[in-house]
Amino acid sequence: MSSAKHIAIIMDGNGRWAELQGQKRVKGHEEGAKIVKTITTYCSLNPDIDRLTLYAFSTENWKRPRLEVEFLMKLLERYLKNELPVYLQNNVKLETIGDTKAFSKSLQKTIAKVKEKTANCDGLVQSLALNYGAKDEMLRAINILKKEKDDISETMLSDALDCKHSVDLLIRTGGDYRLSNFLLWQSAYAELVFTDTLWPDFSTQELEEILKKFTKIERRFGGLK
Ligand code: IPE
Ligand code: IPE
Ligand code: MG
Repeated sequence: MSSAKHIAIIMDGNGRWAELQGQKRVKGHEEGAKIVKTITTYCSLNPDIDRLTLYAFSTENWKRPRLEVEFLMKLLERYLKNELPVYLQNNVKLETIGDTKAFSKSLQKTIAKVKEKTANCDGLVQSLALNYGAKDEMLRAINILKKEKDDISETMLSDALDCKHSVDLLIRTGGDYRLSNFLLWQSAYAELVFTDTLWPDFSTQELEEILKKFTKIERRFGGLK
């Protein structure tokens, strides 16, 4: 029996969820943030799970209308400020992957503050992918490494990435079957689960079912049974 220590989620479908209810897309992001809290709390109480990496904003999401991008930035800041006591209560440490230097100074400060305050939490690590793209992550790592070495090994590249941890289970909500530039290196041997459920409708029950199925999977990593 294997357990999923590192779960990564592409939280997709917020906009469609809102549109289906005749609401503006941003309402879906607001509801989505509530599910982030629910799923993070659930994972923090499951001792088998060490790390939860959540795709919150991609390097490509800047292409969206300015107002939606601005809303997402404000929502993220509000979320982090409000959730700090919840992180602490559940012993959750915040980490981020992606290039957050593109964010406003105020948002960068809030991220840094929550990271600092949760630095000693030794339960679940919640890693938020913010202005994250796997290609950008790999290029940044390679450009740093090439200054030091000509011959780059797998371990060296792995250690130079923002996310240094291989993914056991990658879930995408929202009904599409693609990775959208998320954790391409780290998901080399991840089990992939695609669900039609839109992110604001995702639940701990559905996650539990996915985890139950995961324990029955035989992971061979290229070897034999
Ligand atoms: C995912 O939901 C959240 C972000 C990308 C920030 P979407 O906003 O992509 O929702 P859909 O896919 O348009 O429904
Ligand atoms: C992926 O969703 C990014 C996040 C969930 C943050 P998108 O909605 O941006 O992906 P595409 O455009 O459908 O591939
Ligand atoms: Mg989408």
